Amino acid sequence: MAAELNPIDKAKFVAAKRATEYVQDGMKLGLGTGSTAAWMVRCLAERIREEGLRVTGVPTSTRTAELARSLGVPIASLDDAKWLDLTIDGADEFDPNLALIKGGGAALLQEKIVATASDQMIVIADAAKEVSQLGAFPLPVEVIPFGWQTTKALIEETLVGLDVMNRDCSLRMNGAKPLITDEANYIIDLHLKRIGNPRQVAMVLNQIPGVVENGLFIDICDIVVIGHGDGRVTVRDINEGTEADDFIEFAPTDNIFADME
Ligand code: 5RP
Repeated sequence: MAAELNPIDKAKFVAAKRATEYVQDGMKLGLGTGSTAAWMVRCLAERIREEGLRVTGVPTSTRTAELARSLGVPIASLDDAKWLDLTIDGADEFDPNLALIKGGGAALLQEKIVATASDQMIVIADAAKEVSQLGAFPLPVEVIPFGWQTTKALIEETLVGLDVMNRDCSLRMNGAKPLITDEANYIIDLHLKRIGNPRQVAMVLNQIPGVVENGLFIDICDIVVIGHGDGRVTVRDINEGTEADDFIEFAPTDNIFADME
């Protein structure tokens, strides 16, 4: 199985593996959602099996909860865990300030609540997620289904006054029906192309009635671990102002792939 991984998956794997080195015995952890976060859950499960590491994970989606359960990673609700030591999650884009776009996997609401309830957030990503300015990836906004077309129109109107390149918005679909999030909401994707002032966009969007939360994560991420297809990882710490390169031996055990087809 390992030999079949493409360079992007290898990059995601090594980023996830390096990030799980931050996990210490007894920690309460936010478990992100997406393909990179899934590698992190597998790496964590391996440390639990091999080192007897004791952790409590708080999943950010039903998908991650199912994966964690299937791999024997103990989980709890955020209300039970209350405050977390660390959240490790993926991202759709990150900029030089470690501002993020998240929600490509439609889990942004739980992801933002969990990351905000953590002492530290580490983002794991392949190098393609790094951008000089956010916005090429459509910005997901979670809205309640009631009056969603009115909410969409209000979002489009609000964007007129903001420093963005484009203002097209679309309802995210799941086949012929609107995609429904874990919190029973809809997602509107904002195809902005370039976001000049992410902080302003994030604040203004959340003032619109019907908007539950937006996918801009600002001043939440502390560290990004960037994986490369050849096993290199770059660890960038925004608080320390440091950047260091590392190398992760790409030798995942069969156990790592146990849950995969
Ligand atoms: C889910 C997310 C994911 O972290 C983001 O979409 C990145 O996913 P992947 O690791 O599969 O590229 O925000 O809502």
